[in-house]
Amino acid sequence: TKRVTTAAIEAMKGVRPIVSLTAYTTPIARLLDPHCDLLLVGDSLGMVLYGMETTVGVTMEMMIAHGQAVMRGAKHACVIVDLPFGSYQESKEQAFRNAARILKETGCDGVKLEGGEEMAETVSFLTSRGIPVFGHVGLMPQQVNTTGGYRSLGRSNKEAGKIRRDAKAISEAGAFAMVIEGTIEPLAREITAAVAIPTIGIGASAACDGQILVSDDMLGLFNDFKPRFVKHFAQLAPVVSKAAEAYAEEVKARTFPAVEHTFQPKK
Ligand code: KIV
Ligand code: NA
Repeated sequence: TKRVTTAAIEAMKGVRPIVSLTAYTTPIARLLDPHCDLLLVGDSLGMVLYGMETTVGVTMEMMIAHGQAVMRGAKHACVIVDLPFGSYQESKEQAFRNAARILKETGCDGVKLEGGEEMAETVSFLTSRGIPVFGHVGLMPQQVNTTGGYRSLGRSNKEAGKIRRDAKAISEAGAFAMVIEGTIEPLAREITAAVAIPTIGIGASAACDGQILVSDDMLGLFNDFKPRFVKHFAQLAPVVSKAAEAYAEEVKARTFPAVEHTFQPKK
């Protein structure tokens, strides 16, 4: 592969911060690719693209279709595709079957799965059989139905202890890197220092070895809600609204299409 490998991502720990963003489509992947070390086809696409309330309803077919789309646009960055809820939690064999399908059908570089100690055996099973795994600890959106919502974690000793053990287990099981989501700064800093692999933070402070954001969030493509950890590097929502408004006006006024947009018979 000419793209950044998962081994190269792993080797970046301690060298420089790792730059990553989500991508779901070919044109956005093309635009982000030159600037990113890693593009994640996140199951956040269920909420961001499909208007679902959580990521729980996302399917293998959705992840494969969008994984293929991103691969068509990525020439440089390492591309990782999320395993959706229900595609890996049942057994390590189920996880391998679905992860292999994603690798074979998209050509991506590896898969991401959420989980800590309870997923360590699965991570080891996959990595020892040729499938690079990106871990994901701290806030785990696929577990929203048991954990009851989205809030930052690690303030109580019980919560901190669990995230610490989860991160250690995933690192030791052979993941090449892990996302730490929604976790207080001192804990993210401590885990980053303690584990051998890069930590990629989202809502987990600048102490992590790299950062990831949902692209649509950082582009300001929807403005209904901005969590504390998101920064709008652009404000695209008003740009899109204004363009639609201008188009509607010109259509109604018959000023669009103009002569230069119009086909005529040969003279
Ligand atoms: O689905 C996703 O976009 C993610 C990242 C935000 C880490 O899991
Ligand atoms: Na995800």
